[in-house]
Amino acid sequence: MQSGQKLYVKARQLIPGGTQLLSKRPELFLPGQWPAYYSRAKGAVVWDLDGTAYTDVSSSGISSCVLGFADAELEEAVIGAVRAGPMTTLNCPEEVELAELLIELHPWAEMVRYARSGGEIMAVAARIARAATGRDKIAFCGYHGWHDWYLAANLAEDTALDGHLLPGLLPNGVPRGLKGTMLPFRYNQVDDLRAIVAAHGSELAAIVMEPTRSTGPAPGFLEEVRALATRCGAVLIFDEVTSGWRLNCGGIHMVHGVNPDMAAFAKAMSNGYAMAAVIGVRSVMEAAQTSFISSTYWTEKIGPVAALASIRKYRRDSVHEHQIAAGTRVRAGWIEAAKSSALPIKVNGILPLLNLSIDHPQSTALGTLFTQEMLDRGYLAAPKFNSTFAHTPQVIETYMRDVNEVFPILAAAIRRDDIASRLRGPVKHSDFQRLT
Ligand SMILES: Cc1ncc(COP(=O)(O)O)c(C=O)c1O
Repeated sequence: MQSGQKLYVKARQLIPGGTQLLSKRPELFLPGQWPAYYSRAKGAVVWDLDGTAYTDVSSSGISSCVLGFADAELEEAVIGAVRAGPMTTLNCPEEVELAELLIELHPWAEMVRYARSGGEIMAVAARIARAATGRDKIAFCGYHGWHDWYLAANLAEDTALDGHLLPGLLPNGVPRGLKGTMLPFRYNQVDDLRAIVAAHGSELAAIVMEPTRSTGPAPGFLEEVRALATRCGAVLIFDEVTSGWRLNCGGIHMVHGVNPDMAAFAKAMSNGYAMAAVIGVRSVMEAAQTSFISSTYWTEKIGPVAALASIRKYRRDSVHEHQIAAGTRVRAGWIEAAKSSALPIKVNGILPLLNLSIDHPQSTALGTLFTQEMLDRGYLAAPKFNSTFAHTPQVIETYMRDVNEVFPILAAAIRRDDIASRLRGPVKHSDFQRLT
């Protein structure tokens, strides 16, 4: 058994669920065989605990490492921060420098607050919006983290039905008193939001959504959301935790030309170092002062230094253009390989964050087989591809050569109806499926 799998068995005895992030559980990739832990990483390569090197063509650090792993320039900046003392009694000046840079990149915004993770900064944004409006309800679309304000969406009238709206995100431990505060609408379904505004407009503190995720906005959708928010006095919050720094240097909303009242960033803003920011218009952001939003490690130096170094490199090297180019190559490569092996696939997502699905009733088992076969060939691969600066044309070319070996294996497994017998372990679990 690999050392990583052995350690994971121990971890599950010591850590409920084994990991801190659902999406890093080995069962979501290849139960019993996924390397699970790393010893080091560089560029697009990750070494497991046994020293085996894998090229990561899956999530690239849950889409946070846009520059690739252990980027040398970023490392130097961070080591400087470590040597200077990452934490003192005084504040670090880089948080002011970063605020200026974020506002320069998003000229509609006037003020900034920080946290250190995506869920945390979204909780800050929701608190500020509620404080600014004096209202409680929030209309939302999509995923925004683990905190009570958001998981309250999964409290149903009947406790037996709890968890149905967002399957797998169980709200046990969230006060039932929050039931009814979160009102869901579907992306690109403006009538959903119109109905919420008609029924609850005067009680809405915020409208919270990602400007885009797997599909972009239909013509006029974001504009209409903006108009509805303005009309009912709700704060429009764009969650750019995943969408930011992909298609442009900053929030993806700038590509669509619609400005929110607040926008939140994390993940790719700092390339593997903990950092998060919410930017917003002064009239809303100043309400932070009428509440209590404060935490010791939100003042440390490494996060802002890493964010400044990352964003400056994105801007200098047009890193988003590279991500788009790498995504374009992979998308075309998958489609070509699928065509020549007669494998029925669907590809969606924005170019830097692609998802591959196999159009078959046993798509989860086929996805597991894909990961198994690619692991044998030296890849951390899943039916997805988050592109980074380290995914050079040569890395992608080699990856495609191996995809062209593996897709025919999947197609043959479908033809011969022997998918299960080709798997050396169980089928992977689905994302947000509760693991026991
Ligand atoms: C849109 C969005 N918001 C919030 C979060 C939560 O961020 P974190 O995992 O850093 O808490 C995520 C994470 O995937 C996300 O995609």
